[in-house]
Amino acid sequence: MKTTLKLGVLGSGAGSNMQSIVDAIDRGELDAEIRLVLSDVKDAYILERAARHGIPARWIDCSPWKTRLDTTGEEEAIRLLREAGCDTVVLAGFMRIVKPRLLAAFPMRVLNIHPALLPAFPGIESWRQALDYGCKVAGVTVHFVDAGTDSGPIIVQKSVPVMEDDTPETLHARIQVQEHVAFPEALRLLSEGRLKVEGRRVRIAPPQA
Ligand code: GAR
Repeated sequence: MKTTLKLGVLGSGAGSNMQSIVDAIDRGELDAEIRLVLSDVKDAYILERAARHGIPARWIDCSPWKTRLDTTGEEEAIRLLREAGCDTVVLAGFMRIVKPRLLAAFPMRVLNIHPALLPAFPGIESWRQALDYGCKVAGVTVHFVDAGTDSGPIIVQKSVPVMEDDTPETLHARIQVQEHVAFPEALRLLSEGRLKVEGRRVRIAPPQA
C-alpha cells in the first residue's frame, strides 16, 4: 500500500543525508514529510539545516555514553517522535547504537545508512576501514535496523570504485554521492509499499502501474 511517510530523522553530523531526503521530497520523487529532526550533538549542522527548511529540530541529551542511546535519551526520543506523529525513523549519520525499546516502538520502521558494503566494515569510519583493508570496491548500504550493529536486512546497496590515489576523505566523498541516491531510493520503495522482509532478504516488488 502506498503511504506518505512521516519521518523522524536522527543525526549527529552535517546532515547531508537529511538534505538529500528533503531534496527528493521537493523534487516530487519521494512521498514523505520530515516531521522532526533530533540530534545527540548540540551544535550539529543537521539541526541548523533542518531549521532552515522550517523542520522542527532539537538536541536530545544522551550522555553519559558516547556510542549508545541511553535509556533516558531513548525514552525522550520515542516520546518526541510519537508526539510529532512519526511512523518511520531514519538514522542519517546517527553515531549511537539504538536499543530494542526504540525498535519496538517503530517495528521494522527504523532505517539506517552505513558507508560500507555490509556485512563488511560495520562500526565507525568504514570508508577508512575499506581503504586500509585494500578493497578495490567500497560503497553504501541502507538497511532496516535490528538489535545488532549494522546487521539488519539490506534494502539498497551502491558500490563505488576505490582509486589508486584515494585518501579516506576522497573515498568518503565518493561514497557520500551514492548515499544521497541510496537513502531516498530506499525510502521511496518503503513509501510505495514495495518492500517485503523474508528473514534476511528484503524482496522488492515491481512498481505498480
Ligand atoms: C554518512 O557518511 C553516514 O553514512 C555515516 O555518517 C555520515 C553522516 O553524514 N554514518 C555512519 O557511519 C553510521 N555508522 P551526514 O551527516 O552528512 O549525513
